[in-house]
Amino acid sequence: MDSNRFNRDAWDKIATSRHRWFTPADARQIDAARRGDFSIRLTATKPIPPPWIGDVRGKKILALAAGGGHQGPILAAAGADVTVLDFSQCQLAIDRKMASEHSLEIQTIQADMANLVDLDDCCFDLVINPCSVNFVADVRPVWREAARVLKPGGVLVAGLIQPINFLFDPVKRDRGKLKVRFRIPYSDLDLPPDELEQTIGPERPIDFGHSLTDLIGGQLDAGLMLTDIMEDGWGGDDPLSDRIATFLATRAVKPASVLI
Ligand SMILES: C[S@@+](CC[C@H](N)C(=O)[O-])C[C@H]1O[C@@H](n2cnc3c(N)ncnc32)[C@H](O)[C@@H]1O
Repeated sequence: MDSNRFNRDAWDKIATSRHRWFTPADARQIDAARRGDFSIRLTATKPIPPPWIGDVRGKKILALAAGGGHQGPILAAAGADVTVLDFSQCQLAIDRKMASEHSLEIQTIQADMANLVDLDDCCFDLVINPCSVNFVADVRPVWREAARVLKPGGVLVAGLIQPINFLFDPVKRDRGKLKVRFRIPYSDLDLPPDELEQTIGPERPIDFGHSLTDLIGGQLDAGLMLTDIMEDGWGGDDPLSDRIATFLATRAVKPASVLI
């Protein structure tokens, strides 16, 4: 199965669904961002610490796999020069609609986050990547491409799902019970056929649970230096998030010069 194509179609459907489960920025957030008062969320509930990105006025920002109208419009309203890249045209359409409704300048590019051929080396001050690498089978090319397009001294901020999130039987977890069932790395595609059919679908993309070696070691191998982390949970009554963080956000810098 071509998981990328399946997931792109699923995200097109999610973007246009009545049951869309992520929220674009609202007018109040956009107005506040114009006054310099803003925060963006890359994981389920907590915003990233504002000092991680600082004053974004005039900064070139790539919002990587960030269609859907949350991060792009807020950063553009705060004065950044924003490019939103996503493989889903319908997700990007939400950013374009918000840009036109709020008179914001936002460039949109439809592309796979693992292959940024249309973007030059060293052209962004900041790459922000909301939780999305759980939708690709191999995360390392994403970090290599993000590192390539960053200017020396530029920053990658990424939202990640922690490996532990993928260990447990999902049906039992919904009933409040935690039973270890899977291994990391995890892939929905390894489920038995009948279960796979109930797990993925037109509005349910294929999920991949990566190891910390790939999520964090992959950023380091791409030449980035980790400077801070933040943890987060699902919120609500998820029994696992009650006990341990299920999300991670990382801040990493592309060194200004090569260290020997
Ligand atoms: C959970 S959403 C995150 C963005 C959203 N703005 C939010 O509220 O955080 C994940 C996004 O990743 C995008 N995506 C998933 N796989 C991708 C890929 N291989 N290349 C580009 N975009 C991808 C989806 O289309 C979707 O817009």
